[in-house]
Formats: sequence, C-alpha cells, structure tokens
Amino acid sequence: MKLVVAKDYEEMSALSADIVASIITEAPNATLGLTTGNTPVGLYNKLVARYRSDSLSLDKIRVFCTEEYLGIGPDNPCGLFSWLNRLFVTPCRLSADRVFRLRGDDPEPQLACLEFDEQIRRCGGLDLIVESVGINGHIGFNEPGSPLDAPTRILALSEDTLEYNTSYWDRDVPRYGLTIGLSTILAARQILLLVSGQSKAEALARALTGPVTSAVPASILQQASQLMVVADRDAASLLSGVEV
Ligand code: PGA
Repeated sequence: MKLVVAKDYEEMSALSADIVASIITEAPNATLGLTTGNTPVGLYNKLVARYRSDSLSLDKIRVFCTEEYLGIGPDNPCGLFSWLNRLFVTPCRLSADRVFRLRGDDPEPQLACLEFDEQIRRCGGLDLIVESVGINGHIGFNEPGSPLDAPTRILALSEDTLEYNTSYWDRDVPRYGLTIGLSTILAARQILLLVSGQSKAEALARALTGPVTSAVPASILQQASQLMVVADRDAASLLSGVEV
C-alpha cells in the first residue's frame, strides 16, 4: 500500500488528479471505475480542467460508474450516473459508447448487475478504480455485512447511508442501491482510495489497520495488490503506526 497524506481536501484532490492523469497518460485507453459522492468532486474538477487546457487526452478511456439507486434511470437528476455525467462525462465529451452505468431502471436489475461485471471483463478489467469510504466503512454501496467476495449486485442501503443521502433528495430517498461488488473492486489492477475529513478518520483506520471483515467492507482493500490511499490530515489522523 502507498499512503499519501495531504494537508487538506484541495491538496488531496490535486495529488489524486496527478495520479489519475499519469495513469491515463501512460495508458490512454485505460478502463476506469469511478465512484460518486462529495469526496471525488475535486479530483473530477481537476481532471476536467486538464482536459480543457489540452493537457490530458481522454477520448480513449472507458468509464464505469460504480453505484446507482434502484429504480433510477440515467436522466434522473438525483441519480448517480446523472451526477457523474454532469461533473465529468459531459464536460470531458466522453463518447456514450465508452461510458457504462449500473442500470437501476432495468426491469431485471440483478441481471443488469451481472452484465456490468461482464462488460468490465470484456473491456479487459479495470485498470484503475477510484473509491472513497463511508463513515460506516462502506465502499461503493457495499454496506457492512457485505460478503467480501460479493459480485456487483442490488442491496438494501444502511440507515447511516440513507440518513447521509437525505440531503440529496427532497423526499423518498431510495432504500436500495446497485453497487460494484467488493470482488470486482479488488480485481482492479490499481485502486485509488480518497478520504477526506475528520468524520472519516475512524472508518479509514478500521479499514487499513483493523481486521479484514465484512463488518468493515473497506477493510478488503488490505488484500489489494496495488492500493494507493490519498487522505487529508484530518482523515489520516487515527492512522499513526500504519506501515506504508
Ligand atoms: P462522500 O461519500 O464522498 O460523499 O463522503 C462517500 C461514501 O459514503 O461512500
């Protein structure tokens, strides 16, 4: 594992943009898994800025959006694919055939999850996945209790996650999500975990220094062959003694 401690959110975003940009520069046709949420916003903004300044070519990358709500289609503004579209896919003019979503609106959503993993396989696997961790140790939407070998699937969101998500929804926060599975995350050739803020410090410490357990799904990352963690000082504050 490589751990980089940034002084704040801004530096975490800048350092992670350097990492992602160098991976894409080395492999212009890289296949990326991209998470949603507040944590990676700075990273995506910085990648968009590099694209706009012509310093980063993105026309050959493939992107998989790693979470969605059940019942939510690509045009619902509260959906996660729609969020990634607004923030990254559209500004970077990625072509639609290079962007993949979890089809929460599919009449057979479980099948859509299986197809998502199959599409990743057909693309040769993920070269890089960007993830963040929830306060309860979830990764993607893999909530505590998720089997460590879980494939991409539908699951009930935890009360913690529902409460966290309330701010994004006027009403009726979706109670089920589709998530990239822990086994699919672990199969990525490189994993970049971004963590910011004091509220994540305990989850990060449990993930990196506690036992590998489905009670803390992010702890599966200890088994990753290539894990890079970029955390700001607040998030890393309980990591003393971690071997890097
Ligand atoms: P956040 O969410 O990036 O909005 O903090 C992360 C998560 O809960 O998985």
